[in-house]
Amino acid sequence: MRLVFVGPPGAGKGTQAKLVCEKWGIPQISTGDMLRAAKAAGKLPAELVAKMAAGALVPDEVVVQLIAERTTASDCGRGFLLDGFPRTGPQATALDAMLAGRGQKLDRVVAIEVARELLVERAVLRRTDKLTGQIYHLKYSPPPAGAELEHRADDREEVVQKRLDTYEAMTAELLPYYEGHGILRRVDGVGTIGDVSARVFAALDGG
Ligand code: AP5
Repeated sequence: MRLVFVGPPGAGKGTQAKLVCEKWGIPQISTGDMLRAAKAAGKLPAELVAKMAAGALVPDEVVVQLIAERTTASDCGRGFLLDGFPRTGPQATALDAMLAGRGQKLDRVVAIEVARELLVERAVLRRTDKLTGQIYHLKYSPPPAGAELEHRADDREEVVQKRLDTYEAMTAELLPYYEGHGILRRVDGVGTIGDVSARVFAALDGG
């Protein structure tokens, strides 16, 4: 299975992607995680660090190159789940062209839909385990005592609002694109993590 998860910041893409990837044994490929890892290693150019901190997107060619390389790794033989890529029309067409060149195509695009007013609280109270990458929420999915937690630099409320604006301006065009290809499945992202997960698996199994 070659899958894409689309949705606004805080929709639960990463949370649900982890569950699908664990069950199906495919890698979760998050451009956000890859960019943050590059930043932590001091390898992300300063102008891209600034873009991320401001809630803007990094240039298409940067993430297309990351995905082109990552999806040829040996763990992608049974497929992969792209979490947060593509986010723009040019990224989507570059992905299609890249896969077509390998005789491959996307199987499903899952759009996780959550109203904007719920998303700010989800992002602002998110914490991530430094060692395992496990995603927690201080209210809805509390971390265990003693966990070493990180608070993402772009999870401050004013930056989250900017990221939501960016999503609405840049990424919403993807949904009609994939709807036109007949592979889009919309999932209601409101409810417990388990409720949403049941809907995601139904959307994937249900063809
Ligand atoms: P990225 O890291 O991809 O962030 P994002 O898309 O903004 O998404 P998030 O990680 O914020 O949210 P999520 O949907 O994964 O939610 P999560 O599961 O964590 O991108 C960051 C930046 O990198 C971008 O702004 C951009 O600068 C750059 N970038 C990345 N990809 C790019 C690309 N393709 N092109 C250009 N630039 C790119 O859940 C959120 C919280 O809610 C958690 O605390 C979780 O525990 C909680 N939660 C989850 N589900 C539920 C539920 N059902 N009920 C209650 N709480 C829940």
